[in-house]
Order: sequence, then C-alpha cells, then structure tokens
Amino acid sequence: MDKILVLDFGGQYNQLIARRVREQHVYAEIRPYDRISLFEIREAGYRGIIFTGGPNSVYDPASPHYDPEILNLGVPVLGICYGHQLMTWMAGGTVTGAENSSEYGKTVLYADAHPLFDGVEPESVVWMSHTDYVSKAPERFSVIARTDKCPCAAMADDSRKLYGVQFHPEVTHTVFGKEILRNFLFGICECSADWNAEDYARKAIEKYREELSGKKVLLALSGGVDSSVAALLLHEAIGQDLTCVFVDHGLLRKGEGDFVEQTFRHGFGVNLIRVNAAERFLGKLAGVSDPETKRKIIGEEFIRVFEAEAQKIGHVHALAQGTIYPDVIESGKGASAVIKSHHNVGGLPDTISFDIIVEPLRDFFKDEVRSVGTMLGLPKELVWRQPFPGPGLAVRIIGDITEEKIRLLQEADAIFREEIDRAALPETPNQYFAVLTNARSVGVMGDARTYGYTAALRAVSTDDFMTAEWTRLPYEVLERASSRITNEVPGISRVVYDISSKPPATVEWE
Ligand code: XMP
Repeated sequence: MDKILVLDFGGQYNQLIARRVREQHVYAEIRPYDRISLFEIREAGYRGIIFTGGPNSVYDPASPHYDPEILNLGVPVLGICYGHQLMTWMAGGTVTGAENSSEYGKTVLYADAHPLFDGVEPESVVWMSHTDYVSKAPERFSVIARTDKCPCAAMADDSRKLYGVQFHPEVTHTVFGKEILRNFLFGICECSADWNAEDYARKAIEKYREELSGKKVLLALSGGVDSSVAALLLHEAIGQDLTCVFVDHGLLRKGEGDFVEQTFRHGFGVNLIRVNAAERFLGKLAGVSDPETKRKIIGEEFIRVFEAEAQKIGHVHALAQGTIYPDVIESGKGASAVIKSHHNVGGLPDTISFDIIVEPLRDFFKDEVRSVGTMLGLPKELVWRQPFPGPGLAVRIIGDITEEKIRLLQEADAIFREEIDRAALPETPNQYFAVLTNARSVGVMGDARTYGYTAALRAVSTDDFMTAEWTRLPYEVLERASSRITNEVPGISRVVYDISSKPPATVEWE
C-alpha cells in the first residue's frame, strides 16, 4: 500500500490535508515534524511527503524546522504555505515578511503549464492565508505560478521532484485544489489508488481473528458511532469472544438504551451486557447542581460500574476502545504538544486486569468510521448519529437532576428531533437537542394557571464542533416543536430557542 507522509508543522489544516489524500484512495498519515526522524522517514518508504502550513515565520528562531537533507531523499515533496516557505529556506531561497504582502482569502492565481497544474486553468481562484512570502525561489527551482501580490505562489524543482505552493490546495475554496493534489499524488509520486477504509477494515478483521480468537476481549459500548463500529468490527472478527458492556446510566435519550440493546444483542447477536445503573447514578447525583461535579461523578461512577462488570468476567486479554485517528494525532505545534485525551468512556479503568489495548479504529477519520459501519451493516440511525456527550442528559438539565426532570427532557428532546427529521431540511443541523433549563415561569392552559419549566431548543451547524453557528431553523419547524412540547409534555410551559454561537457559548449548556 502506497503511503504519503503529512509532516505537520502546526498548520490548522493538517487533518484536512490527510483526508483529502485519503479521498483519492491513497493512505496518508500525519506525523509532527519533531516526532519523526529522517532515518524513520527513509525507512518507512513513503511515496511522497507533504509539508503542512504552520503559524510561524521561518526566521523566527522558535519556528519549526527540519533537516534540509529531507529534500535529498529522492522522495517527492509538496510544501504548502509555511511548508512552501520552509522548503524555500531549506534550499537557500529568500522568504520576506512585509505587512502589505499578506493575502487572506480567495485570490486569483496565474499558473504556468506544468505537470503540477494539469487540468488547472491558467487563471483560477485559490485560498491564501499568509503574511511572509517567497521573494526569491531557491536555486534549481523555477517559479510556476504567481498572484498579484505574490511573485512565487508556486515553484518546482522537477529534477528532485520538489514543489511548493503558497496557497492551500486542500481547502475547497481553491477551485482546482483537488486536481493539484491528484497531480502530485499520481503524476509526480506515482501512487496507486489502492486504499479504502472498507478494505483496510476487512484486513483488520482478518488480523484480529488470527490474533484474538479464543481470547477474551472487553469493550465499553456507548451506542455512539465510534464504539458501535469498533464493537461490530471485533464481533465480525471474533464473535462471542468479544463481550460488550453497555452502561445505561439512565441519562440517555428517550428509547436509546432499548435501541442499542435491540440492535446489538438481537440484531447482530453480540454478546452484550446491559447494566441498568440509573438508580446508582441518580443516587450519586442527587442534589448536585454544579456542572463540573456532575461530570466528575458520572465519569467516576461509569468506571466503577464498568469495572464491577469486568471483574465478573475475570481476566480479559484485551480491552478494546473506539479511539479514532483524530484522537491519537499529536499536533506539530512544538514542545507543548499533547495527545488529546479521549473522553468517550471517561478514562481508562485502572483496576481491570488486561494484557493489551486494542483500538481497531485508530487509523480512521470519522467519515471513514462511518463507511466501515455501513459496510458492517450498522443501521443508518447509528451510523449518522449526532454526537452525544458521555455524561448524557445530565449536562442538559440545568441544576439538580431528578427522575421527573429526565423524563420531561427526554420527551421534549424526542419531539424536537422528530420535528427536525420530519422537516427534511436541505441541510440538517450537525447537532440538535433540547435542554431543560432550571427556569420556571407562569403560563395558562385552559382557564388554569400553570407554573412549568422552560425548555430551550438548540441546533448548531459546524464542521468540527470547535466552533459552531446556531442554525437558522425555519420558523414553522420551531413553531411545531414548541406547540407540541407545550401540549404534549405537561410540566413544560415555555419553549425558547438558543441563538448563541460557539464561541462565546459552547454547544452544550454545561
Ligand atoms: P461543547 O459543549 O464543548 O461541545 O461546545 C462540543 C461537542 O462535544 C460534545 N461533548 C462531549 N462529548 N463527552 C463527549 O464524548 C463529553 O463529556 C462531552 N461534552 C461535550 C458536545 O455534545 C458537542 O458535540
């Protein structure tokens, strides 16, 4: 299988670059520039290397650099943005910083005829985001594109197969970005398009069948996409040797616990233990209204319940987790780089004895996890499930949690989701749910005064959940949801719509 190395210099689009490469059926892996040596790169046999962008200036002493020998490995390199400037610097060209030379946003590129630009029109729109620019291409390089402000918007040393572009081909605003990446991958690196998530998963299934058959494997199933796909993949490999523990903390959406059980135990024949721990969780949460304390209690309790189940099973050989690629990628932002902690099962239980951890999805991006799920026959409702926080409805009930409040919220939330689904909007919000605020207000029903809770509806549109816009839902959808909730859920007498974006708000209320 041909592989491309995405050498990460801290750019915000590093994951996007890797995904774009994989969309072309070429395997790409991201490595921070300070975590992979020249020797390792040489040994790994990459077909090509992409230098990512980064926030720095090459002349800043703290900026990320790499051994210039990388340019002499005989492996084609494409430098993007900062990567383009770094390649220039490494090869002896000149990078200049000037206030008035910065470009941000859509910019017209004038491209020469060159194999990197096969199928690219001589004038086309690209996405720029830079201050420094390459004022003089290094020796042996020729300039192959420019913009009104940027005299060297792309350069090439065909003899060594080294290329640099100041713009971002991975961003969709770059009209011919896909063609440029394809030209690099197939024309220059001569990669074969032989990678896809499904085949990779099939091979993983074979591998796990050989390695794990006859051994006990334990997985905490939450019903979210990642743990569901991980469970099915392992089930396909080792069948009943896999035990899934599904901790139902009583804070799930309406009907969700039964749906998960039905799907996995009855639908797929997975060896599933459902632990109905609602009472235990509610007991611990009684009277607690501080958001962080609630989260902590749930995280800890989750581990305790899971451990108790695991102990009944005895020694397990492997603990399986639904970790996915973005969870394991380290960032190339320098010495302070940290690995993102996974918060899907609230941390690793420390008293379960196991020999190894198995993470069948650790090489996959989310969209790839979804295609693997589809291949394995996971129902659409689970494959396209919106994110749901580990602490569940506890972070959507403001103030203390009671059974009654959980019931009110489950009903209101189910109605809102039903109305959004029924509306078949041209673009479904990426996440939508109801929140039970702690505010009560006076209402009137028939001739009687009511004093019920206020439900808040929340719908957001986002690519990555790091930032999010509140979704401009049609008034009719809001109207139907509101009138159904106030009519069908006694105890809620008022409905409001949350029109805050993130930042400064967060998606969840707590
Ligand atoms: P916030 O509220 O931080 O949420 O803007 C961003 C995204 O993360 C989800 N979320 C969680 N997911 N465990 C999870 O697995 C958690 O503790 C958690 N808290 C928030 C949230 O639903 C949104 O999609």
